[in-house]
Amino acid sequence: MSAIFSKQFDTKLRLAAGAAILLLGAAGAVLGYLLHPKQLDTGYTPMQPVPYSHKLHAGNLGLDCLYCHNTVDRASYAAVPATETCMNCHVRVKEKSPKLQLVRDSYATGRPVPWVKVHRLPDYVYFNHQAHITSGVSCVNCHGRVDQMVEVRQVQPLSMAWCLDCHKNPAPHIRPAEYVTKLDWKPEGDAAQLGASLIRAKGIKPPINCSGCHR
Ligand code: HEC
Ligand code: HEC
Ligand code: HEC
Ligand code: HEC
Ligand code: HEC
Repeated sequence: MSAIFSKQFDTKLRLAAGAAILLLGAAGAVLGYLLHPKQLDTGYTPMQPVPYSHKLHAGNLGLDCLYCHNTVDRASYAAVPATETCMNCHVRVKEKSPKLQLVRDSYATGRPVPWVKVHRLPDYVYFNHQAHITSGVSCVNCHGRVDQMVEVRQVQPLSMAWCLDCHKNPAPHIRPAEYVTKLDWKPEGDAAQLGASLIRAKGIKPPINCSGCHR
């Protein structure tokens, strides 16, 4: 039987199919780039509606992270504080400052301050603050020295490889749970050795199977 298409035509067809696949790939890459949420980028520092400074409040004034993020050790979600928390002080402190106008408006109307989220994982990833905090992973491991930041910025990639790096070898990152919000804490001896003994004592075993983080 003779071939239906000449050999030459067959080659052209293959080339065209190859080109189409390459084009689709390129379009996919462009689309992926456009759809890539900027929240997943290291360095992401959105403008906030109120010039609130962690360096001033958590650093200089020494307020504990839990004073404001008071669900972080009890829930998956680390709540951003309600306006009432700010007004504990700001009914008396800087009570006329224009920088706090939006906070006073929020207090009067009951409408929350529209803070802009800095860190955001894709919806298909499961994350839980409580599990990390109670096993002794510090805020500093994932958010950096927030107590020295005027504006919060993302310092870690929040990528799958980054999560897994720690899950496979958590020992150097585990501290006694009472120090999780002491961002400048340093262990007396070897961090990995202390971590390993805490891991044994608490039976800590971070998930590395897919369904641990994709539920
Ligand atoms: C006086 C209240 C207060 C204290 C204390 C405080 N924070 Fe915050 N935090 C806020 C507010 C308000 C925001 C939202 C505005 C912003 O991002 O700056 C925020 C945002 C954040 C974010 C970014 C959340 C996001 O959108 O992804 C992180 C991370 C964070 N805080 C960590 C900490 C850590 C760590 C500490 C302790 C060292 C701390 N905070 C202490 C009030 C506080
Ligand atoms: C424990 C008390 C306390 C709490 C709670 C608190 N602050 Fe403050 N805040 C202060 C102090 C003290 C200053 C500095 C005053 C000064 O510079 O003399 C300040 C300064 C500020 C300023 C700068 C004002 C200016 O005119 O320079 C802003 C903005 C601010 N705070 C926002 C907030 C927000 C938003 C919250 C809630 C998330 C909050 N604060 C919670 C005590 C507090
Ligand atoms: C193991 C890493 C890790 C640790 C430890 C950690 N965080 Fe987070 N944090 C994240 C990730 C990831 C997100 C984004 C979560 C999302 O989008 O679902 C986040 C989000 C936040 C947010 C925004 C609200 C939210 O829940 O999405 C705040 C506020 C926050 N973290 C504060 C803290 C504070 C305060 C501590 C320490 C007491 C802390 N985090 C410890 C990884 C961590
Ligand atoms: C610095 C170390 C570290 C990093 C970074 C880290 N984890 Fe973990 N993770 C842990 C430890 C420790 C545990 C606690 C395991 C236990 O209690 O047995 C844990 C537990 C978990 C659990 C189980 C929680 C539960 O409720 O069962 C999930 C899910 C998880 N991590 C997801 C993530 C994701 C997603 C990221 C990245 C965005 C991440 N982790 C980054 C150390 C880390
Ligand atoms: C410790 C938590 C964790 C575990 C375990 C984990 N993942 Fe992920 N995965 C993530 C996070 C976080 C992201 C989002 C990261 C990003 O978009 O950069 C992600 C993204 C993905 C994506 C999206 C692809 C991409 O690059 O955008 C796929 C597919 C995926 N994971 C598959 C898997 C499979 C298959 C396994 C098991 C072999 C697995 N994951 C185990 C945390 C985890």
